[in-house]
Amino acid sequence: MSEHTDSASVAPIVTVQQHILQEQKRFPGASGEFSWLLSGITMATKLIQAKVRRAGLSDILGEQGVVNVQGEVQQKLDVYSNEVLVHCLSARESIGVLASEENEEPLLVHKGSENANYAVVFDPLDGSSNIDVNVSVGTTFSILRRPEGVSLNEPEKWVLQPGSKQIAAGYVVYGSSTILVYSVGKGVHGFTLDPAVGAYILSHPNMRMPEQGNYYSVNEAYRDSFPPRYAEYIERLRGGVLGRKYSSRYIGSMVADFHRTLLKGGVFLYPPTENNREGKLRLLYEANPIAFLAEQAGGTAIDGTQRILDIRPSSIHQRTPFVAGSRVELADFERFV
Ligand code: AHG
Ligand code: MN
Ligand code: MN
Repeated sequence: MSEHTDSASVAPIVTVQQHILQEQKRFPGASGEFSWLLSGITMATKLIQAKVRRAGLSDILGEQGVVNVQGEVQQKLDVYSNEVLVHCLSARESIGVLASEENEEPLLVHKGSENANYAVVFDPLDGSSNIDVNVSVGTTFSILRRPEGVSLNEPEKWVLQPGSKQIAAGYVVYGSSTILVYSVGKGVHGFTLDPAVGAYILSHPNMRMPEQGNYYSVNEAYRDSFPPRYAEYIERLRGGVLGRKYSSRYIGSMVADFHRTLLKGGVFLYPPTENNREGKLRLLYEANPIAFLAEQAGGTAIDGTQRILDIRPSSIHQRTPFVAGSRVELADFERFV
């Protein structure tokens, strides 16, 4: 008798590339250019994670002359991550504009190519202060279509669009494993990098944020400088008003804090503070992609008063207060705050 497993009963291995191709079929008229574009992001994030994984070693090797034999200056990881993303995405014909947290101005690529229809906006390395202490960091990205009638030499106009216009968004979290989470507006899917083969494999199909969680996530050291209602809202969570007494978790890398919130539920907040009246997080690179994923997973994301995805940006580096998480916590926030 054969010992072979019945192949029909085993879930097939799905790579992110296969998944994108399947998703694309659901969009009438979509061509392969979109999957080619996303492959630029998967390529870049694999290179970034490789660098992150040996971050503690690069100095040691550097001192021994193994690295930097040409006298190259050791690059900070966020500069490196930015260069890798710009490099990998510039090779995609369909991309006309790149806007990065690390660049003053959006970059125009493929000057004049009529095939360039997309802009990619990204935070190359989120939570970079956590690198030195071996704590999770991430990359966020957001993809927009060139608006009707906007020419190739007006790169700002490509990206100054409300988050509701994103056609895809996602992040990669470089944690105890490397996980890519993305959405093209049809649910949220997570892929774990198998380091042995270098492929992102579908591990979290159709991610849904729990209706309610057990954690709130905020930098409580700033509590005295939050608007009073925010501080009182946190008190409500601690006091059991929502039927349970919340515990807290705060990593200080938005991507990692949100990833936990997506899986476990709860609420993540970066409120306005005395020093940062508009909050700290950047609308285009951080808040928009995370808000897109939160909503796609059944959660909510607001700036304290309105939906993040409805905000019309006026400048590319603009900041916003940010509250994202499960329905129950966010409904209470909206009622109370
Ligand atoms: P970045 O490293 O891209 O500048 O972002 C850091 C952000 C975000 O990841 C995190 O939520 C927040 O900074 C933490 O700020 P505080 O140290 O003020 O809590
Ligand atoms: Mn960031
Ligand atoms: Mn950053």
